[in-house]
Amino acid sequence: MRVCPAAEVQVDTPKRIEIAGQAIAVVRDSAGDVYAIGDSCTHGEISLSEGFVEDCTLECWAHGSRFSLKTGWPQNLPAYEPVPVYAVEITDDEIFIDPTPIYKDKDD
Ligand code: FES
Repeated sequence: MRVCPAAEVQVDTPKRIEIAGQAIAVVRDSAGDVYAIGDSCTHGEISLSEGFVEDCTLECWAHGSRFSLKTGWPQNLPAYEPVPVYAVEITDDEIFIDPTPIYKDKDD
């Protein structure tokens, strides 16, 4: 599903979108790669897209859990449940996201 032009998602400025009834954080990490993960922190009802990008993680601003952009798993407490990740494709400078949630293993 087409989301937006790739240029709209800048490094360190996550974008919150809703597709197929799901809130998704679209994130470009400091290496320039684009990821999509569930936008709701699993510790509270906080929008992760309002958080901070560090390396390949997105940090919840409320209590500091950092979620892996690759697996959706938090790397530190207090969150201990993963958010889903979504498949991202960039074609002709447009971001496309498959809205099927994927729950990965911690070690993926
Ligand atoms: S609400 Fe996100 S870490 Fe507490």
